Amino acid sequence: MGQQNYIIREFKPDDLEAVVNINRICLPENYPPSFFLEHHYENPKIFLIAEYDGKIVGYNMCRLEYGISNIDGKLARKGHIISIAVMFEYRRRGIGSKLIEEGLKRLKECGATEVYLEVRITNYPAIALYRKMGFRAIKIIEGYYRDGESAYLMVREL
Ligand code: ACO
Repeated sequence: MGQQNYIIREFKPDDLEAVVNINRICLPENYPPSFFLEHHYENPKIFLIAEYDGKIVGYNMCRLEYGISNIDGKLARKGHIISIAVMFEYRRRGIGSKLIEEGLKRLKECGATEVYLEVRITNYPAIALYRKMGFRAIKIIEGYYRDGESAYLMVREL
């Protein structure tokens, strides 16, 4: 592995424009700026940014939920990876993995015992990344996305 020129840190409101931009460029699921700010206000420790040579190149926005476990059906504190993306030119350098690794660590510190996410069934890079990070697909959510594509629900214990 080469030298790491990037850091992972918590999102700050000043980063909003950069994050909204990365989300629009990298993903078909786009959200209004207020959606990002709400997540930051509610859970500042689990909304993370990757900064490469001072430039924001990726983010991982998570949320904490309390509800039925995807693993044993009991009530559980669950982490939810809402949206993660790394700018194209910065991919395959381990930044996505690091954003997830740090997110998982922090979700655990916040009391989550498991984490889940939804991903398009054709999003092979992301599915490969999640598998590598210990997630497994437990079901298909038919027609989950607006354009009709289905999602895998992927889960891992913390
Ligand atoms: N093809 C195959 N495997 C891949 C690919 C790819 N294009 N990209 C990543 N992987 C797998 C590999 O196993 C890789 O390890 P390796 O490079 O040692 O082979 C591993 O994932 C880790 O890759 P990273 O370098 O850590 O990940 P990266 O920084 O490239 O970010 C990400 C991955 C976030 C999925 C990026 O491709 C991206 O931003 N894609 C567009 C946005 C997106 O799809 N986000 C996920 C939507 S689902 C959700 O948000 C819950």
